[in-house]
Amino acid sequence: MAIDISKYKNVTVLKHPLLTHKITQLRDKDTKTNQFKLLVKEIAILEGYEALRNLPMYDCAITTPVEPTVQPKVHRKDLCFVPILRAGLGMADGLAELVPGAIFGHIGLYRNEVTHEPVEYYCKLPSDIAEKDVYLLDPMLATGGSAIDAVKMLRNHGAKKITFICIIAAPEGVKAFAEANPDVPVYIGALDRCLNEKAYICPGLGDCGDRIFGTVK
Ligand code: PRP
Ligand code: URA
Repeated sequence: MAIDISKYKNVTVLKHPLLTHKITQLRDKDTKTNQFKLLVKEIAILEGYEALRNLPMYDCAITTPVEPTVQPKVHRKDLCFVPILRAGLGMADGLAELVPGAIFGHIGLYRNEVTHEPVEYYCKLPSDIAEKDVYLLDPMLATGGSAIDAVKMLRNHGAKKITFICIIAAPEGVKAFAEANPDVPVYIGALDRCLNEKAYICPGLGDCGDRIFGTVK
């Protein structure tokens, strides 16, 4: 039976013609590494604009050419972006452009090619992550194993407020992630049909890390 993701209230599938257009370009097997990397960055900016809509703001005294005034600002140090290596790095470039000077953590995970289970190989997070709004970044939500593990790692380091942003998701991964983390908002650029027997997303875009870093076999 088809998975109905509408019951997961923490999940938002973003809709915008420009976002969908860029994701279609990303899917195309003829899109080359340079263009692919640029598209991942642009898509991350479009998604980030929506996912960061409720950022806390603080009042800041400034002076315009006309007069002194108090105006709202975002405090970049309240945020922490955490890409899952490797493919999440492509999205991190976009978020760094959206919020210059933001803090970054890094989580390294890869999928075992046979079991498709995530294998952890790196974790470097800010020591005060408990006080930050954490945005976990990974273009692909396939089985959900990597994102679920990454959230566990973030929580083990004290993170309390976590949001996950991905570009393409399979219904299987959305279900697994949303059931494991009903309190974590998820922003998705495109919801695809299903996983194939190798746990690749269909129609998907292939191996995102390989396409960003030019390591396609
Ligand atoms: C990809 C992707 C996710 C993971 C998603 O990484 O970037 O991290 O697969 O699959 P899942 O939802 O089934 O866990 P990959 O393991 O290919 O590593 P890489 O980015 O280093 O290529
Ligand atoms: N990881 C990818 O890069 N692509 C998929 O389709 C699934 C997992």
